[in-house]
Amino acid sequence: MGTVDTIIGNKNVQLFDFEPTTTDFLEDVAFGLSQPAKSLPSKYLYDFEGSRLFDEICRLPEYYPTRTEKAILEASARPVAEAAGEQTTIVELGSGSHHKISLLLDLLSNPAGYVAIDISREFMLSAVEQVKSKFPSLNVSAICADYTQLKELPNELSHSPASKLSFFPGSTIGNFTPQEAERFLKNWSGVLQSGDLFLCGVDLVKDVNVLESAYNDSQGTTAAFNINLLQRINRELGANFQLQQFKHRAIFNSELSRIEMHLVSLCDQDVSIGPSTHRFQFREGETIHTENSYKYTVDRFQEMVKRVGYSPLRLFTDPEDLFSIHLLRVN
Ligand code: AVI
Repeated sequence: MGTVDTIIGNKNVQLFDFEPTTTDFLEDVAFGLSQPAKSLPSKYLYDFEGSRLFDEICRLPEYYPTRTEKAILEASARPVAEAAGEQTTIVELGSGSHHKISLLLDLLSNPAGYVAIDISREFMLSAVEQVKSKFPSLNVSAICADYTQLKELPNELSHSPASKLSFFPGSTIGNFTPQEAERFLKNWSGVLQSGDLFLCGVDLVKDVNVLESAYNDSQGTTAAFNINLLQRINRELGANFQLQQFKHRAIFNSELSRIEMHLVSLCDQDVSIGPSTHRFQFREGETIHTENSYKYTVDRFQEMVKRVGYSPLRLFTDPEDLFSIHLLRVN
């Protein structure tokens, strides 16, 4: 933990490292698998391999959110840049595709810097390296952290006089329950300052078939992404999950307006984690709930942000209303 100047490629980037420890991971896994309805926190899907697979998902024909958000961003980057003004620091939550951030950085006049925050250190550093190559004179920092737990930015960044535009693309907000999303948004408005901007991508409610195909792709990439979580637990926590004895399932729960990802046990089986301290029994057909992806209406999302200290400034959508990007101001 701590701050280091790190060289990635041949570029200098400041890295603030608050990566969660293996103990947190073990505790969270043991807790989730001990519940009557077994579950695992979706944030653990993103080790290096999980992040790589997610990148692949973003390019799948069935997975409409990424390309739709990119198209909306292309069409809306100018008004966003105008709202941001000069000398703004861009703070990206979950540094994913450098294409989206490049679009924004290209259009901003004289940005003060770019800060990436992600839980997956190596993946973030490689994304940051690409940004640094494209914008060599830009001040770039990386924070390896669970951004839901951050109470403030490191002093070096929070004391900067530059205003901030925080960018939270991809509808990652949908991976929180609405209660968690409210809590996160409220906390984040405290990390930012009054007047700062928040640009948030939010996936919209739509036809069930379109939704379910996006999470059950024909190439099996989403299945591999889900199963990788068990592989990660085997590798990092010394568990003995038999990967071929679990199957990926994604369904739309219309009552709760969310896609649910599960891993279904294909037989009765026992799994142990670590030196046999933790032992879990699975019945055939029992599932581990690994991710929720909530889908919002524009109204529902805007009502939520208004409750927790933001004012909606602009709304951008695509012609088919598949996806939305909200420009918000912290009150
Ligand atoms: C990162 N997040 C917004 C993706 C989603 O659509 O909920 C994660 C994902 N899971 C399966 N496919 C994509």
